[in-house]
Amino acid sequence: MELLKALSARGRRLLLGAVLGAFAVFGSACAATDVGPQDYLSPEGPVARRADQLWDLTFAIAAVIFIVVEAVLVYTIIRFRRRPGREAAQFHGNTKLEVVLTLIPTLILAGLAVPTVKAIADLAEKPEGSLEISVTGKQFWWEYEYPDAGVRTANEMHVPTGRPIFLTLEGADVIHSFWIPKLTGKQDVVPGHTNHMQFIADEPGTYWGQCTEFCGLSHANMRLRVIAHEPAEFEQWLEEQQEPARGFLSGDAADGEEIFMENCANCHAIEGTDAQGTLGPDLTHFMTRETFAGATFENTQENLERWIDDPPAMKPGVQMPDYGLSAQEIKAVVAYLQTLD
Ligand code: CUA
Repeated sequence: MELLKALSARGRRLLLGAVLGAFAVFGSACAATDVGPQDYLSPEGPVARRADQLWDLTFAIAAVIFIVVEAVLVYTIIRFRRRPGREAAQFHGNTKLEVVLTLIPTLILAGLAVPTVKAIADLAEKPEGSLEISVTGKQFWWEYEYPDAGVRTANEMHVPTGRPIFLTLEGADVIHSFWIPKLTGKQDVVPGHTNHMQFIADEPGTYWGQCTEFCGLSHANMRLRVIAHEPAEFEQWLEEQQEPARGFLSGDAADGEEIFMENCANCHAIEGTDAQGTLGPDLTHFMTRETFAGATFENTQENLERWIDDPPAMKPGVQMPDYGLSAQEIKAVVAYLQTLD
């Protein structure tokens, strides 16, 4: 108050303007969180719902505390304020009150710990009848392996609806974090340390996610998708993924395969061919993916041509180099990739 009084009328108006401006910026930032379907407040599976219920409970308790504390504060300010001819009331210390005000939060936190710890313990167990998928976080993309089916894919994880998915996560280089907001919480993906997480998708659909641990230049381009299918449709997808790449190629695609084997096969694998590299994503069924490069770009001919021409220009820090291929060679490689369905 003394500080406000010291300001001129103009200074006070400026201060008010600055505060309102800050609120406006903050408010618009909230309104602009239009990140498509990434929304942890709209859970779409029992695991995410469990976390959301804990959040609701915590928020309800916090809201009640906020209202009570603010009410007491406002009452105190008015009741004990300075009046003409009377000093503001002076207090110092009240042991009984301080003990009570320590006990109440302690009891609230202890009470909240019960459902929280129970949820953590329940979700740490491997659910019965679950589908196991191994997740490896790499700069800057995700590798998924379906060990029972012998299938390896990247960035887009396909799962059946209604069945628990049990993930085993490990980092290949630095720490990443796996997050699909609508389906489950975050889990760190750490080199040399295995973590687990689980989720169930209620409905078929595409769920967006992303890496949420800063992991280098293209951390923001390390996205992912979970695509949930009806169980029969999922089995069909899995069977298709088990097939090797088809053999016979002609024209541009045949040239492209040759160029690919010379330049790309050390890092990428294509089952049924000599390409068995493991540094980059397995491309055996590349055309069944809607996106590429950490689920960052749509899998279109134009994007692929731009990508092969100069990967670091599209995704800073990417390990895939620019091989200096000619426009015709790039066209041929893309024609080859487009046969990998
Ligand atoms: Cu991986 Cu951030």
